[in-house]
Amino acid sequence: MSRQISSLLAIAAVCVTLAPAPAFAQAPKKAPVDCEQVKCIALTFDDGPGKYAGTLLDTLKKYDAKATFFLEGQYVTSRPTYVKRMVAEGHEVGNHSYKHPDFTKIETWDIRSEIKKTQDAVKKASGVEPKLLRPPYGMADLQVSDIAAEFGMPMILWTGGSEDWKSKNVAAIKKKTLEVAKRDGIILMHDWVKQSVDAMPSIVKSLQKKGYTLVTVSDIVKREELEPGDIFPVPAGWEN
Ligand code: NI
Repeated sequence: MSRQISSLLAIAAVCVTLAPAPAFAQAPKKAPVDCEQVKCIALTFDDGPGKYAGTLLDTLKKYDAKATFFLEGQYVTSRPTYVKRMVAEGHEVGNHSYKHPDFTKIETWDIRSEIKKTQDAVKKASGVEPKLLRPPYGMADLQVSDIAAEFGMPMILWTGGSEDWKSKNVAAIKKKTLEVAKRDGIILMHDWVKQSVDAMPSIVKSLQKKGYTLVTVSDIVKREELEPGDIFPVPAGWEN
C-alpha cells in the first residue's frame, strides 16, 4: 500500500469515527448521465406517493431505471417512508402542491402555502427539498410563475401523457406510453393508478430495448438552463 493511500485511509478512518451517523441514506454516487450522448427519457409520476409506490420502486430498482415523482404534500405526510426511499434510491422528487388545487384559481397566499407545506414535508421525510414544481393539472399563469420564482423553482410540464388515469388499462397504458415516448421526452404517469404500476416492468423493458436510458427530469433539462419561474416545455400561448 502506498503511503499516500494509507494516509488517505487514515483520514477516512478519522472521518468515519467523527462523522455522526447520517440521518438519511445517500443515493449511491454514479457518473452523471449525459443526455447528449445517450438517448434519455424521463418517466414522471404525479400525485403521490400513491398506494403502489413501493411496488413501483421495486420495479425501477430491478431494471436500474430512474424516475421523477411530483409529490402531493398531504401524501408525503401520510406515506413518508416511500419518499425517503425514492431519494435514497436515486430518484428525483418534485413539488406538486399539498392538496392539488388549480393554482390559477386560488389566492396567492394559498399558492405559497401549498408549495411551502410540501417543501417542508418532503424535507422532513427525505432530507432534501424539491427543486422542481409541477403545478396541479399543469395549470399556471404569470402569477404562479412569479411565486415559483420566489421558491427558486422552474415549473415542469410534460411532453406526453400515458393517459393512465383515463384508461386504467395495462395494455392501453403501455401502448400510449410507447407511442408518446421520444428522446428527451417527459412522460406523465401516476403511481396511484394500479394498472400503471402493473404495466411498468413491461414498459421499462420495452423502452430499454429501444435504447432509452430512464433518467430524472433534472438530467433531461440540464441543458435548458432553466431559471426559477420558467416553464418547460413552454405551452402553446404562454407569454413571458
Ligand atoms: Ni396531479
